[in-house]
Amino acid sequence: MPKYQRLCLTLLLPLSLSIPFANSEAQIAANIRYDTSNDIVSPVSAQHGMVVSEQNLATQAGLDILKRGGNAVDAAVAVGFTLAVVLPNAGNIGGGGFMLIHDAKSAKDIALDFREMAAKGAQRNMYLDAQGNVAPGRSLFTHLAVGVPGTVAGLSQAANKYGSLPLKDLLAPAIKLAEQGFVISPHLAAILDAEREHLGAWPSSRAIFFKDGRPLQAGEKLVQKDLAQSLRLIAAKGPSAFYQGSIAKKIAAEMAQHHGIIDADDLKNYHVAERIPVKGNYRGYEVISMPPPSSGGVHIIQMLNMLEHFPVAAQGSNSAQNLHLLSEVMKLAYADRSEYLGDPDFINVPVKGLTSRAYADELVKKINPDYATPSAQIKPGHPQPYESDQTTHFSVADTFGNVVATTYTLNLNFGSGIVARGTGIVLNNEMDDFSAKPGVPNAFGLIGGDANAIHALKRPLSSMSPTIVLKDGKPFLVTGSPGGSRIITTTLQTIMNVIDHHMNIAQATITPRIHQQWMPDQLRYETGISVDTLKLLERQGEHLKPSASIGRTQSIQIEGNQFFGYSDPRNPDGSAAGF
Ligand code: GLY
Repeated sequence: MPKYQRLCLTLLLPLSLSIPFANSEAQIAANIRYDTSNDIVSPVSAQHGMVVSEQNLATQAGLDILKRGGNAVDAAVAVGFTLAVVLPNAGNIGGGGFMLIHDAKSAKDIALDFREMAAKGAQRNMYLDAQGNVAPGRSLFTHLAVGVPGTVAGLSQAANKYGSLPLKDLLAPAIKLAEQGFVISPHLAAILDAEREHLGAWPSSRAIFFKDGRPLQAGEKLVQKDLAQSLRLIAAKGPSAFYQGSIAKKIAAEMAQHHGIIDADDLKNYHVAERIPVKGNYRGYEVISMPPPSSGGVHIIQMLNMLEHFPVAAQGSNSAQNLHLLSEVMKLAYADRSEYLGDPDFINVPVKGLTSRAYADELVKKINPDYATPSAQIKPGHPQPYESDQTTHFSVADTFGNVVATTYTLNLNFGSGIVARGTGIVLNNEMDDFSAKPGVPNAFGLIGGDANAIHALKRPLSSMSPTIVLKDGKPFLVTGSPGGSRIITTTLQTIMNVIDHHMNIAQATITPRIHQQWMPDQLRYETGISVDTLKLLERQGEHLKPSASIGRTQSIQIEGNQFFGYSDPRNPDGSAAGF
């Protein structure tokens, strides 16, 4: 058939989604192929363990720990501390995050919440000016933007409770790299240059990341002596060095000098919360993810529950039908996010209601198979009432059957841009993840309300979604991503690509992504979605917007004793390595 006729046929294909059907695809429970030799792109494979992160030096640090007999938690902790040195825009000890662990021996899943907490002096209207408007930049680039950091407490608790090696051994690679320095890549140099204004505003930050009045460039060495000393103190004295010792004193002094509100008591009282993961089932696979104060797990499961009503595999990857369905499903989930999600220690989040199949059955009735529903017409739904750019992700799997998915963050690249003087520690700007004022979007364009209002000691709502998928009770997929509000939809598409479209984890990673978050009503898409598909989506009423890369997954797929790892090439500095 001539090319022209083929194109016409494509455009004339009916736009309708197939009629929802009940779980018949669940029985097809994906017949994944593990011979990747004929695939266009293949993951890294190994038989004893795998580490995947956004920076090769951190991946190698984790791999060395696995080779020494450490378990996946040991390796994850080493990766976390090392990223604080070699990925200084997102890796951190001045921020916070989430770690999800599958412990093979007990067959238990553990969710460690080391998200930052608001200081006890935080107030609901702290980012509003005298007219009641959000004061530009106050929740992002001032000492008031900083939440009490949780990373040191979180990684230490993980190591002490679930690891097998001493904390000091897990800190050793980070200390060495901070002390001796490492060569800045073109990718990191570009980020440093983009953040020159925010980092350059603070002498303590300039002293580390600038040379001759300009940000460090590719090929130059980043040496972080103060950070090395802070890490050495943590290695010698444990997390109390950070929360009560000399590091705490320096952070409190930094705050006092610049009208910040975090004081010694805030640091001393910081605590990690061990939470119950959220769980769902998708086409025969068990999906385990992070509960509130992450919104990620809840909405990934909510969206998968909706997707299970549709023949996603038959629709085909990135077809117009498939992307229209995804866009509708995403709008419904993000509308609910704006209304219901927040810190469960302060508000009742209807987790069961939002993740129930019955609620998904109701929601899918709102999806028009032919036309995009304007976001303005979508309001948060009614789940069963209450029962009770920059971030980074890394995944680890060991030979004992344990897997760890960790996502942690400073919020934006280099967080607030502020280094606490004398510590080498970059401080987060996580307070911007709260809703500064109902209806006013944050840095990711996300809108929130009362559920995510600022309150003393509360944790801001997050999108970070470390996720583990089990098949027959055993780890099958470990994944997650940075990307602010796009984390949830990125993780969803990775799961869908593997389970529905039977892609190997490399292919599932590189396949172009979309993102829709209800407000603003935009379907953002990466380069690589076909022009024909975009035309069809436009005709259905989607508001299309080209996007820079969406997410950067770091994933492991496991079959038997074979590990397949893939670091998203959207960040060229990352790597997957196994042995
Ligand atoms: N700071 C981005 C997030 O936690 O979702």
